[in-house]
Amino acid sequence: MAMTTRELLHLRNTGHAGINALFAKAHSADWDFERDVDWSTPVAKDESLVSHQWTAFGRTPTFQALPDTVKSYVNRRGVGRILNILQVGESVAQDVCAKIGLAVREEDYRNHAAAQAMDEARHHLAYRRFLEKMDEEVEDIDTATEMMFDNVLRFEDPLRLIAAEQFFLEGLAMNIFESIEREATNPLLKRILFLITRDESRHMGFGVLYVERWLREHSLPERIEFARVWLPQILFAATDRPGPLMLQRVGQRMREAGVDNVAELAARMLREQEELNAADLGEIAAGRNMPHLLKNARRVGLFAPEILEAFALADNPIVQGALRFRLDA
Ligand SMILES: [Fe+2]
Ligand SMILES: [Fe+2]
Repeated sequence: MAMTTRELLHLRNTGHAGINALFAKAHSADWDFERDVDWSTPVAKDESLVSHQWTAFGRTPTFQALPDTVKSYVNRRGVGRILNILQVGESVAQDVCAKIGLAVREEDYRNHAAAQAMDEARHHLAYRRFLEKMDEEVEDIDTATEMMFDNVLRFEDPLRLIAAEQFFLEGLAMNIFESIEREATNPLLKRILFLITRDESRHMGFGVLYVERWLREHSLPERIEFARVWLPQILFAATDRPGPLMLQRVGQRMREAGVDNVAELAARMLREQEELNAADLGEIAAGRNMPHLLKNARRVGLFAPEILEAFALADNPIVQGALRFRLDA
């Protein structure tokens, strides 16, 4: 696999204007971890850090009727857990980028991977430093996420690495970044998420541009093989909403905050959340609100008629909604 000087002497640039522009933007939109973030901003012990409706089940009337101290505790624990997953996710992304940089031969792809690796190193530091300021033991990463990261870390092939990291994981994470940035009540958290989200949109953009080109340049059977791996994961992840598993976690936090009738409240929260979930999915099906994963799937051509036909997905309401969504809006 090692490159020779001869090969490096003749590195080819694909000439992809969008991907080359991402590298330039990585510099013009650069930020300094020390200078552009005011780390003296306080993070108080009892701060919710985000609005009370941010957490899973946070929009249910039963949760909203809980005392503020409970709502703050549940949200803060949720933020701590997510930031811990994100800080390690950044290290995973950095490893993936280092691998991509060594595996691809194209100058513009290598450059993007190098720039992204530096972004991810900075994101990792920012999350770690914020967690230090929170100054508490955070909940451990869950097994499913750990297995997903381990799986990506084992990949060697650039297409698999880029499809898994930049196209899938970063598309999925983008909605999480946007929700924390939007709902953050702590100014330091909001600032960090603003800066990181800007970087992440370039990373996701690389995934979209790379996969779009790959699909455009491959035969229908190859495109179908790619779709067989990614379409089910995309449709699942983009429509996954809080359910019983997440409720256990939220219930545990409520118990820790001193709520004693958790079982009774949780049953109500689940029913209320199911209505909210149905309404959310209705918005997607109507093409009014669209997760990044679905927008990106459409952008790269995964919802082309011949692919939808191969998987009998042409009448799927979520796919229909994604096709109806105005991408330029
Ligand atoms: Fe990142
Ligand atoms: Fe990233």
